Amino acid sequence: MSIQAQLKKYELPPLPYKTTDLEPYIKGEIVDVHYNGHHKGYVNASNTYVERLEKVIKGEVTSYDIQGLMRMLVFNINGHKLHSLYWNNMAPQGKGGGKPGGKLADLIEKQYGNFDNFKKIFTETANSLPGTGWTVLYYDYENGNLQLMTFENHFQNHIAELPIVLILDEFEHAYYLQYKNKRADYVGAWWNVVNWDDAEKKLQKFVK
Ligand SMILES: [Fe+2]
Repeated sequence: MSIQAQLKKYELPPLPYKTTDLEPYIKGEIVDVHYNGHHKGYVNASNTYVERLEKVIKGEVTSYDIQGLMRMLVFNINGHKLHSLYWNNMAPQGKGGGKPGGKLADLIEKQYGNFDNFKKIFTETANSLPGTGWTVLYYDYENGNLQLMTFENHFQNHIAELPIVLILDEFEHAYYLQYKNKRADYVGAWWNVVNWDDAEKKLQKFVK
């Protein structure tokens, strides 16, 4: 058996603003540790576990725990992809917050009546998440609807390339240095840095 393929590595995408640009809503220290520590860690670990799987595929290692390997692959690759969406979904102070426009505003109005009701339901959903995870709004190709959903940890319900429009990280590393155990305060503050242009851009990519 000869397998020649050299797999391309995962890479940490650039942060689209300075680490302090989301202040006062999200402290620079949080963004620094979150991006340079956690996200970078997911990228590095993704490459490590992909390499390990490659060795298994090529028969270079014969003793391995495939279940444990898959668990680490899913955790790290999904972690990398979800964070890549999260960073772009926020904008520096003065450019974020407010309300969406375009197609996203139309769909929100159709499904939620108005933006304030959407914000209320999204916030309730985010605050209901037990432990760590994500709250997302994604575009469902099957019926053309926006769908609200929570993911526990990086594992459950998540398909890495799900058409996510809006995403909120609710791991403690996303808020604890500033908000401690008051996660709902972080969720409330996050609305001030939502990048609606990015959310609209994401949606436009999915809608055919
Ligand atoms: Fe995170």
